[in-house]
Amino acid sequence: MADPVAPAPTEHDPSGNDASESAFTEESRVDATSAEDFLPINGTDHLQFYVGNARQAAFYYAHYFGFAIAGYRGPETGHREAASYLLEQNDIRFVLTTGLGPDTESVRHQQEHGDGVKDIAIEVDDARSAFAETTRRGATPVREPEVLEDDDGRIVRSAIATYGDTIHSFIERTDYDGLFLPGFEPYENEHLAPQPAGLEWVDHCVGNVHLGDMETYVNYYAETMGFKNMLHFTDQDISTEYSALMSKVMSNGDEIIKFPINEPAKGEKKSQIEEYLDFYRGAGVQHIALLTNDIISTVRDLRGRGVEFLETPDAYFDMLPERVGEIDEDIEVLRDLSIQVDRDPDGYLLQIFTKPQQDRPTLFYEVIQRKGARTFGAGNFKALFEAIEREQAKRGNL
Ligand code: FE2
Repeated sequence: MADPVAPAPTEHDPSGNDASESAFTEESRVDATSAEDFLPINGTDHLQFYVGNARQAAFYYAHYFGFAIAGYRGPETGHREAASYLLEQNDIRFVLTTGLGPDTESVRHQQEHGDGVKDIAIEVDDARSAFAETTRRGATPVREPEVLEDDDGRIVRSAIATYGDTIHSFIERTDYDGLFLPGFEPYENEHLAPQPAGLEWVDHCVGNVHLGDMETYVNYYAETMGFKNMLHFTDQDISTEYSALMSKVMSNGDEIIKFPINEPAKGEKKSQIEEYLDFYRGAGVQHIALLTNDIISTVRDLRGRGVEFLETPDAYFDMLPERVGEIDEDIEVLRDLSIQVDRDPDGYLLQIFTKPQQDRPTLFYEVIQRKGARTFGAGNFKALFEAIEREQAKRGNL
């Protein structure tokens, strides 16, 4: 799970691509000054979801997003509390869990928040040291280091809290050869043949927090995990006629883990971040960006399966050549699939966003392809947010 998530930083070519049309500016880039090495990170280990019906959700992700249902843990495997399905696609692991009684943690979480992400689990070489170093610097402890063992070896796991009810587990799997975690067994269904959609790994996970809390969590990641603030967007960068938000991107030293954090800003109408906070009943994961190496074929495939994306107005594509300059892709194909493009000093990226993936207007997905760019598509924020607002208005929440 230790793939590079972003290309290595490169020198900016002053005579190169002009990013002046993008909302991303050099001023909004904050230099890495606080990255420390007390918390070496190998990558995203997995995302743990608490959902209303894990068995059915597993088939949703298999059908729509091309995940393989790789593992299962539940009463049949000796775990009486909850049923969990392990979904895999290349280096992405999702775990969907539903408690089997009203007093289980996952059922209580799901009742409060709806389906959502409980744990952005991080793979480390030493989960004991990760816990000791982060809690010593002020991280809120959630789970003391514990050893999980079976015939395939041992896992060490610990966890700290982050925004809302969300946590970060530290997973040490250097002495483990099994499927995922002890207790999980391969999921057998001869009629299910995985059909991957080209989703490779988790590029970034975005959190929404309450007004005034962004800085708190920026400091939390900087102080307890040694993360750096790689980008900063003000409400001037990210605003539409109706609403605004502010965002800061925190990352570890080599940018393998990137956590943008949004808070609502005052606008004429209700911010989409506030809509999220109302329905999630607190801070939580807003979207997960999944990286592909060929966004055109991935999005064509996902659309063919029935995945619903936010649509981009035609006018956006008319202005695209002027805004991003030369790109490898045919703009008519991008228009047809509603894939957006943005350029930054290191290159460009292509991206598209799904509609919310559960009944509440909370979590959604981004599909992203990076061609050098290390940023997040600031030049698309306005088009994206206007698309979200059209959906928000349909729900009567704007
Ligand atoms: Fe994103």
